[in-house]
Amino acid sequence: MSVAPPATRTVPFHVPHTAERQDAYLRRVLDSGDLDGDGPFTARAGELLSEMTGARHVLLTPSCTHALEIAALLLDLAPGDEVVMPSFTFAPTASAFALRGAVPVFVDCRPDTLTLDESALEAAITERTRAVVAVHYAGVAGDLGAIRRVADAHGVPVVEDNAHGLGASYRGSPLGGVGALATLSFHATKNVHCGKGGALLVNDDALVDRATIIRDRGTNRHQYFRGQVDKYRWVELGSSYILPEPLAALLAAQLEEFDAVQARRHAVWDTYHRALPEWAADQGVALPTVPEDNAHSAHLYHLVLPSAADRAALLRHLADRGVQATFHFQPLHTSPAGVRHGRAAPGGCPVTERVADRLVRLPLHTALSDAQAEQVVDALRSFRTGAVRAADREDPR
Ligand SMILES: Cc1ncc(COP(=O)(O)O)c(C=O)c1O
Repeated sequence: MSVAPPATRTVPFHVPHTAERQDAYLRRVLDSGDLDGDGPFTARAGELLSEMTGARHVLLTPSCTHALEIAALLLDLAPGDEVVMPSFTFAPTASAFALRGAVPVFVDCRPDTLTLDESALEAAITERTRAVVAVHYAGVAGDLGAIRRVADAHGVPVVEDNAHGLGASYRGSPLGGVGALATLSFHATKNVHCGKGGALLVNDDALVDRATIIRDRGTNRHQYFRGQVDKYRWVELGSSYILPEPLAALLAAQLEEFDAVQARRHAVWDTYHRALPEWAADQGVALPTVPEDNAHSAHLYHLVLPSAADRAALLRHLADRGVQATFHFQPLHTSPAGVRHGRAAPGGCPVTERVADRLVRLPLHTALSDAQAEQVVDALRSFRTGAVRAADREDPR
């Protein structure tokens, strides 16, 4: 008969960060009556993001999804064009390009960093390839240099889906400043947020005017405001992709605290990473890998269990001990829309399929106390992957 563990307080999986000045900033926007967007807080948030990422131009959007949609419009995709990306990502990475009639071509991920497997990239590229999307899973870029080399050799741009990686870098270059275009997410689940928001980072000067037009309902209204045209007109396909100023105010307040947010998140991440290696090795569990030339963003702390059954058992075990943990992306190449609109690259995506069934994300946020991080560690260390076959343990992925 199993003995119920003692009652513990719940450790929430996520608590959105609260910035000290966000109420005051929001009040200021509401009092100004200028709620539309592209106001002083948008400018402030844009400056901070430009400093953090080195991006040449920052356009705030209502979400990362919308920023990806602008990227797809900028690429002038025609039906049948192809965009190469990892299968291990969130639906909008693919949907944004499929909306323009392009075919997402799904490449497997590396077993260590869970980012696009650069060794499978060459085989995925055809004469219809128009872009490669690098997804910096958990704010780790993997071998972004190799991805760029293959894309450059074929003359196609790299788009960085950097929803997770604000503050991270590859060989000293901040993520988001490397590809021709990059996107960020400020959804409430991200390190810094405004409830729902995003940004398109434009690193190719030739694209910024069109990006600005696409974001403003396809009109050249910004040129009208600058006195460059006497009336503004519909000049491109576009949509309503400007972040409202009240959300920009929340975002500016959060970005001003970015260093403190990151310090706390890294402290929790490091606590897990210091405490778990012995247990993980014993139990055949893989911990996150951050290559030496990458600096990560402390966005996620993930474990890959030896089997799907182990994952289900671990999630139950943690829940019984008050720890909220969860799984993550489901492979896109086998998802209903992925099958309809895309295809897997040669070789398929076996690593993605294995990892998606076995990955667990641990609580990681600024409201997490040291005691709660210890509670998570203790709960993990009391778990055994008992149902695991010895052969699986040697290669958890
Ligand atoms: C890799 C990736 N891309 C894109 C998105 C979409 O971000 P948003 O919710 O801001 O549209 C997410 C969301 O978490 C994501 O994880």
